[in-house]
Amino acid sequence: MTRLPEIEYKLLSALAPGVPVGVEGLVKESGLDQSLVMAAARSLSDRGLIEIHEQVREEYAITEQGLKVSREGLPEKRALQAIIDQGGEVAFQDLPASLGREDVRAEVKWLTKKGWCSRVAGRLVATDKGRAALSDAGPDEVFVCRLAQMGRAFSDDLASLGTDVEAGLAALKGRSGLFKRKQRTARSISLTDAGSRLKNEGIEPAQEVTQLTPELIVSGEWRDVAFKEYDPRLETAVLQPGKAHPLQRVIQQTRRAFLEMGFEEVESPTVDTAFWVFDALFQPQDHPAREMQDTFYVADPERGLLPADELVQSVGRTHEDGGDTGSTGWRYKWSRAKAEKLVLRTHTTAATIRALAQDPKPPRKVFSIGRTFRRENVDQTHLPEFIQIDGIIIDQRADLASLFGTLAEFYRKMGAEDVRFRPSFFPYTEPSAEVFAKLGSLGWVEMCGSGVFRPEVTEPLGCDVPVLAWGGGVERIAMMRFGLDDIRKLYLSDIDWLKEAALCR
Ligand code: PHE
Repeated sequence: MTRLPEIEYKLLSALAPGVPVGVEGLVKESGLDQSLVMAAARSLSDRGLIEIHEQVREEYAITEQGLKVSREGLPEKRALQAIIDQGGEVAFQDLPASLGREDVRAEVKWLTKKGWCSRVAGRLVATDKGRAALSDAGPDEVFVCRLAQMGRAFSDDLASLGTDVEAGLAALKGRSGLFKRKQRTARSISLTDAGSRLKNEGIEPAQEVTQLTPELIVSGEWRDVAFKEYDPRLETAVLQPGKAHPLQRVIQQTRRAFLEMGFEEVESPTVDTAFWVFDALFQPQDHPAREMQDTFYVADPERGLLPADELVQSVGRTHEDGGDTGSTGWRYKWSRAKAEKLVLRTHTTAATIRALAQDPKPPRKVFSIGRTFRRENVDQTHLPEFIQIDGIIIDQRADLASLFGTLAEFYRKMGAEDVRFRPSFFPYTEPSAEVFAKLGSLGWVEMCGSGVFRPEVTEPLGCDVPVLAWGGGVERIAMMRFGLDDIRKLYLSDIDWLKEAALCR
């Protein structure tokens, strides 16, 4: 009779010669912790009593979108139904109305690719194959529906239920978002000859001791009990505790970086007057950035309150003829009404310029982080709503070198390998520079705009020392930190990515 630690005993008892058993199933059946079962299995295999087999397998998991398709059918199937309901053919220009969708390119692509419809003189005509397909589920639909029932599954699980996985995957090629694939290691164990012999000779469970207590020592019992060994090779279940969203963490890190460099944080309204967003920054009232196609204007109320008259007038005069600044100004009739217009701020420079107007006395270092808005089409690097970080340094000795030094330090703190500057233009700074940061696979990415505020900006606000200023996107920093090549990733609730995104790097 051999005495074995309890779980080892259970494992050996569960095994018959020549039949491998999946570890996952064993864990489920026994209700034991996966790491305990694996510990026991490793210990048995170290003694040659069992063999552990590892197999890397593709696992598929259904997505929200996949679930939708499993309920409603593939979009081209619905489109086909609609076309057949409408007599079997529809003119191309009527398709959006017939299918109830503005963009029908994807449907048309799949309908023709699958041979369900053909193009005949400006019309999309259902084929016999298409008519037959209506009452028949294709391999892609079968795959998606099965997977939807199971949630997640290995391909052999799907195959054992009669799903033609290969055909399903082939038919789904070129379509993304319906399911996800992941590599997972499946483990099974089997009895060796030695294990079989030991079992035949007889085995019995022994209590396993996981902690050496004073009692065990004093009584001398420690000599007889079986101690559980540590095994640092074990894979354990990954814990997934709650944590802040990656973008939120980058915002916090950005804030901390500036606080560490001795900056104070300020805030300003998300909805602000054009005065603070544009006019106070010497941005002429006919500047293209101020137009409706670039900036969101508030419809109701249309106008907001301006600061003290004296300040407003000195800003207005500077636009018209330079006022007391020695500049010639932009030479046009400045309108107070245009400055009163309410906008969703297009940059957080509105926050730093307000701070400057409020207290222009040097030395001061100020930053602001906040939500900003521009009429942009969503793409890989643009969103209509995003987060910006802006900063200013008001200091008699401030110069371009201190600007570049500060920004290089900041972006290095945020993980950039290298930082570069390139001449640029902004209506409110002279000189101006764009800042690029380098990180790994993404290469050089534009991070922010910067420069020294022009006297036309600072003097009307009562400031007569140099002011360094910069502003840029926080999502860009997040992309750099997380190695993302698509900004949208930050706003999709991709739970797997959110779980895996590192807390720090
Ligand atoms: N406001 C500019 C932008 O949004 C950046 C900038 C801020 C440039 C301050 C110069 C000085 O792109």
